Amino acid sequence: MDEVEAAHVWGSEAGMQDTKQMSVLDAIVTRRSIPQFQPTPVPREIIQRLLDAAVWVPNHRLTEPWQFHVLGESAKRRFAELRRDSRAAAMPNPTAPEVKPALQKVVEDTVSTPVIIIVTARGHDDPELKEENYWAAFGAAYAFMLGAWSLGIGTYFRSGPLRDAPALRELLRLSPDQRVIGFLYAGYPATVPQKRRTPASQKTVWLD
Ligand SMILES: Cc1cc2nc3c(=O)[nH]c(=O)nc-3n(C[C@H](O)[C@H](O)[C@H](O)COP(=O)(O)O)c2cc1C
Repeated sequence: MDEVEAAHVWGSEAGMQDTKQMSVLDAIVTRRSIPQFQPTPVPREIIQRLLDAAVWVPNHRLTEPWQFHVLGESAKRRFAELRRDSRAAAMPNPTAPEVKPALQKVVEDTVSTPVIIIVTARGHDDPELKEENYWAAFGAAYAFMLGAWSLGIGTYFRSGPLRDAPALRELLRLSPDQRVIGFLYAGYPATVPQKRRTPASQKTVWLD
């Protein structure tokens, strides 16, 4: 299945859930980061079901380091303002009138995103386990993304300096040992972009 076909089959039927089955391989290959979503809400039960699946990722010593912060309307608005402020902080002249619409768009795009889940992970005193906890939490995020795609729901995983902003930590009421891994946006796709990959054969070394 090519990406355009995937957009047609999996991206356009907002109500579709289990009526069609997608192979794991098709989900891996056809999933794309979705920049725009339809306004259709994603039912809470589906989000919960995807999270319930996501925690089955491999996890060394079963530390289960993740926490999923699903933003409601007021948390989403506060997060949107934090995103705007973070974007403004990176601009040479954030108070210039010409950048105001761009900053306002950050807020609007964020609050209109159907689902925003902030994925956090606990660290660890042992640096090796700390690193592995972060990998496991991203693994859970990716499992969510693949599961979502198999149900016709698109996702976009974002990172950036906002991850470590004190105001965000306050919003999420994080304990000192929790770290934001990334921002997971989800919803029924409005478009499915095409992306490129270098064939794995060019990145593979077969050793005798
Ligand atoms: C750890 C991680 C962090 C990412 N952070 C961002 C980000 O901050 N902004 C962004 O636009 N995309 C981010 N992405 C998404 C990538 O840009 C996207 O996966 C890439 O362009 C490939 O597109 P595809 O997912 O559609 O194949 C991130 C992806 C990963 C795995």
